[in-house]
Amino acid sequence: MNLELEGKVIAITGGASGIGRASALGAAREGAKIALIDRTDAASVAEEIADLGGEALALGCDIRDAVTVGATMAGIVERFGGVDVLVNCAGASGKDRKPVLETSDETWDAIIDTNMRGTFNVCRAALPALRERRGTIINIASELGLLGIANLTVYGASKAGVINFTRGLAVEEGEYGVRVNCVCPGPVDTPFVHHKPGAPRNAPAAATIMGRMGEAEEIADVILFLASPRASYITGSIVVADGGATAHC
Ligand SMILES: NC(=O)c1ccc[n+]([C@@H]2O[C@H](COP(=O)([O-])OP(=O)(O)OC[C@H]3O[C@@H](n4cnc5c(N)ncnc54)[C@H](O)[C@@H]3O)[C@@H](O)[C@H]2O)c1
Repeated sequence: MNLELEGKVIAITGGASGIGRASALGAAREGAKIALIDRTDAASVAEEIADLGGEALALGCDIRDAVTVGATMAGIVERFGGVDVLVNCAGASGKDRKPVLETSDETWDAIIDTNMRGTFNVCRAALPALRERRGTIINIASELGLLGIANLTVYGASKAGVINFTRGLAVEEGEYGVRVNCVCPGPVDTPFVHHKPGAPRNAPAAATIMGRMGEAEEIADVILFLASPRASYITGSIVVADGGATAHC
């Protein structure tokens, strides 16, 4: 299937690593121009894209800061002339996994500010450009926004917020032709997944039907389909890609 992403401008938060990086490389292979937005230096990903013969811009930006996000989005429009697709991949789960009773204000702020305020900041900054091109947004939530899990309650709440933020924004933007969708990955083998010392690296795989963790590229494929004009009748959708983790108890 031709995803028809040739020449499209795709802005990706969290583009320095994991699912964001895989989405950036996948989109570049389809001929898209990529803006990598990350608080971690994404220059090495931009170089990988250049090696593929593609075009990429790496922009240092903490998505929690609305002023920086606004300036970053203006820089992307100046460089590429507009934005067709926004992928909100940057996310935080907090340093420690603890029950709510032991969760600090700092942990709450770090998770909610990144996953909810950050998603809000970037969407709001990108919407004028996206409306001009009848573009599309893909927010990355989590299976944990659909299920309860001990010691990741704040993270789960933030991702449930991203899920319903997606639905509301899809309703608001429908009349402007901007599609807004959400992907809920299950356990994916990226630096995001913390491993306890001595625990098997594949431990979260036990919760899936497939008996394995996903690869970042498997989530990127879902994101790129939603980014594509081939997904023209999909908006306000929550697409689960979790190896079946949420299909059983
Ligand atoms: N890996 C998984 O198992 C999994 C499962 C479900 C959902 N997710 C979600 O997928 C998304 C991507 O995760 P990943 O696995 O690729 O993680 P990752 O750690 O590989 O990449 C996350 C990127 O986000 C960036 N980032 C974090 N906070 C930021 C901020 N405030 N401003 C700018 N950049 C920031 C990091 O620097 C990093 O490059 C996250 O939203 C995560 O919640 C991941």
